[in-house]
Amino acid sequence: MAALVWMTLCLAAAFAVDRSNFKTCEQSSFCKRQRSVKPGSSPYRALLESLQLSQDSMKLQLINEVNKVPLLLELVGLQGNMTRIKINELSPLRPRYEVPDVLVRDPPTTWLAVTGRDENSVELSLGDSGHKLILTGKPFRMDLLQGRELVLSVNPRGLLHFEHLRHRKDSFSDKVSSSVGSLWDKIKKLQRYHDPLIAGPTSVGLDFSLPGEGLGGDPYRLYNLDVFQYELYNLMALYGSVPLLLAHNTQRTLGIFWLNAAETWVDISSNTAGKTLFGKMLDYMHGGGETPQTDVRWMSESGIIDVFLLLGPAPSDVFRQYTALTGTQALPPLFAMAYHQSRWNYNDEEDVAAVDEGFDTHDIPCDVIWLDIEHTDGKRYFTWDTNKFPQPRNMLGRLAAKRRKMVSIVDPHIKVDSGYQVHNEIRSRGFYVKTKDGSDYEGWCWPGSAGYPDFTNPEMRTWWASMFSYDQYEASMENLYIWNDMNEPSVFNGPEVTMYKDALHQGGWEHRDVHNLYGLYVQMATAQGLEQRSGGLERPFVLSRAFFAGSQRYGAVWTGDNAAEWDHMKISIPMCLSLALVGISFCGGECGAGGRLSPDAELLVRWYQVGAYQPFYRAHAHLDTVRREPWLFGEENKALIRAAIRQRYALLPYWYTTFYHSYRSGQPVMRPLWVEYPDDVTTFSIDDQFLIGNALLVHPVTEQGAQGVQIYLPGKGEVWYDVHSHQKHHIPAYQRGGSIVPRKERVRRSSDCMYHDPYTLYVALSPQGTAEGDLFIDDGHTYNFESKAQYLHRHFSFASNTLTARSADSKGIFESPAWIERVVILGAGKPAAVFLRQPGMAETRLDFQHEPETSVLTLRKPGVNIGANWSISLR
Ligand SMILES: *[C@@H]1O[C@H](CO)[C@@H](O)[C@H](O)[C@H]1NC(C)=O
Ligand SMILES: *[C@@H]1O[C@H](CO)[C@@H](O)[C@H](O)[C@H]1NC(C)=O
Repeated sequence: MAALVWMTLCLAAAFAVDRSNFKTCEQSSFCKRQRSVKPGSSPYRALLESLQLSQDSMKLQLINEVNKVPLLLELVGLQGNMTRIKINELSPLRPRYEVPDVLVRDPPTTWLAVTGRDENSVELSLGDSGHKLILTGKPFRMDLLQGRELVLSVNPRGLLHFEHLRHRKDSFSDKVSSSVGSLWDKIKKLQRYHDPLIAGPTSVGLDFSLPGEGLGGDPYRLYNLDVFQYELYNLMALYGSVPLLLAHNTQRTLGIFWLNAAETWVDISSNTAGKTLFGKMLDYMHGGGETPQTDVRWMSESGIIDVFLLLGPAPSDVFRQYTALTGTQALPPLFAMAYHQSRWNYNDEEDVAAVDEGFDTHDIPCDVIWLDIEHTDGKRYFTWDTNKFPQPRNMLGRLAAKRRKMVSIVDPHIKVDSGYQVHNEIRSRGFYVKTKDGSDYEGWCWPGSAGYPDFTNPEMRTWWASMFSYDQYEASMENLYIWNDMNEPSVFNGPEVTMYKDALHQGGWEHRDVHNLYGLYVQMATAQGLEQRSGGLERPFVLSRAFFAGSQRYGAVWTGDNAAEWDHMKISIPMCLSLALVGISFCGGECGAGGRLSPDAELLVRWYQVGAYQPFYRAHAHLDTVRREPWLFGEENKALIRAAIRQRYALLPYWYTTFYHSYRSGQPVMRPLWVEYPDDVTTFSIDDQFLIGNALLVHPVTEQGAQGVQIYLPGKGEVWYDVHSHQKHHIPAYQRGGSIVPRKERVRRSSDCMYHDPYTLYVALSPQGTAEGDLFIDDGHTYNFESKAQYLHRHFSFASNTLTARSADSKGIFESPAWIERVVILGAGKPAAVFLRQPGMAETRLDFQHEPETSVLTLRKPGVNIGANWSISLR
């Protein structure tokens, strides 16, 4: 039984990052304390006599036999094969932080029942799913089973460790325990991190075991940080984190979602020897033999233990379960899936006009031009540099006339300047994050000394959202969208380039408690602002660098300030795949976003090809690099880049439909192969090729000088794809047999210009001669598809030599003038004749062309409206 454990961010090789700026577990005092608790018999005992059962939850006390501090365990059965476990102190001295705003609702519950009991254990049934939980009193552990299958164990190695709150004076004395004294000494040694730990130690930790082999090694760190030109294949922290662990083997996919926003470390190890009771139980249930087990240990610096067990069993079930909790990917406006041109910086209005013009001159589609921080008046966001951008409204108007958009940057650090209105308002309203003395916290960032608005405060977020209204944000128009950078938050002179952990947020919470949520709140408030400026009609577009569980509801993320290097391009694929698995589908990795290196033409062309098949497609460049608009690298390279971008535009109908599915059902847009082929163990370790939706398999070229790529085709095996024997502009991509993919093949200036263009359907027949696919259409930018059911969802199927179009969802009603101009059937023999049939009309004959050597049958001009019912038969 092979298995794979996917963690949220799996990164890699040595680059310019100065690792000594960032902590290891050894240097993170709570991680070190937690890890000093060694596997063995748990000091915790469950007081079975304290058990209280209600309809949908069970409560029980746990007592630490050493320090006698009681904890409260709450177990809640959730609908759809999920279980929630909360552990808090029975009576904490002060409330402990519980993460708000990440769950989209109180998850619907299901019934629990006690189905067995003896002096040291209780057996519970969890709803109708057939899952049972056996809770052992002493030492405390829980085992989750389905029938005879052991699915997962909680606290199997006895690592539950919960540092209870103490009276402040106690924590400074040695009375509580001698280890506390030495703890303070250690903290003093880490003065440069400036963390006096006023509240004393408050960390929490718990361990789990699951069947199967995982990836062991150093602990992963989840702590959102600004890591310029990060190292690859390293488990240190990065810009965003999603505390969800997925495990997959041929029998089951499951997830552990650890809802905690404080600094968190995760230890994963795998073994067959030296098994714990868990492993022995596994062997017994599997009838002996060596069944590998994976041990996982979560450790967070503060808060409570609030963990969701997502029991699958299929990959699609786990995606549905996780997104039922945290929300699905927001459906982006259509333009946001098209190509974006960015640079730090486009210098002035003339520069923007020239770049815009360049795309037309060179016949390359482009939807959006981006402005980085230099467009502002001295890094004062919401303003314009009046020398370089004297007429921003005219500039936006000119882009709008070309049916293009603009994105401007608005970062969450606000210049401390009494002449700056935004700063004055935030200060006078008391909306800044505070120091522990109650003054406004100030850090150093792009504008120099800056305050950080407290985005955890809902009143602050409401005010921030109002700043995007057309009358507040000077010159802003409908085609201006927003980019939030530096929202980890990045503080150049702060510990590990972020905020002091004892800075104070609304409600008196320390930054320690809320750190990983900050970036999510910035993007949330900004997206709300864009929504509100249109009276709630228009779908926002906001790109964010930092993220957390649930960020998928607010827009896109990118892989941050990488370098223009081959390995950085390569890693963008597994990075976006990992994010897609944890709910965040709208991801892209761009060429050297942070790097001072300029790519050579080969790397740049390859990066455009990789990007064409990533959900978010933007080119960006560092201030210090030479210009790299697509036409600056000679005719041949320009043609290759143009072909990659046009390929993206041709597939926009498919991208849009795939995003719609992600929005509806939580399935990732970009997928590792094992998601579609969960029984094929060869797919489990593949991370250089992937699928878009379920129909396109892509393996971009990511090696310098490569002549081709080795592609694994499930069911067929390895195939060498020789790039040079194909036309040079080819990006190795396959359409799955049995699928139908809609495309638009006329070249235009932007996605908006293509809106009414006709469709071409690509029908790839399965060995059985069948295929199916669908298409989602709406206006491309409003919420009317939701609020007024203004959409078309079409279904296409091919069977018995007949291609049929019907509605996939009769609730949606929408008129589109677009029609079908071509149908291409891959793998078809030559018919004698082809007939089109529409309800209430006579059959008509269609022209066709057949290429016998490739078995491609092209049907010309069916000419039917995209919303019509019809069938085409090959006879
Ligand atoms: C719950 O699990 C059972 C058994 O593994 C499975 O048959 C069922 O489809 C699952 N239900 C959901 C909603 O995932
Ligand atoms: C297509 O057929 C469905 C029933 O199969 C019907 O409800 C719908 O009105 C038809 N659409 C058109 C445009 O004729």
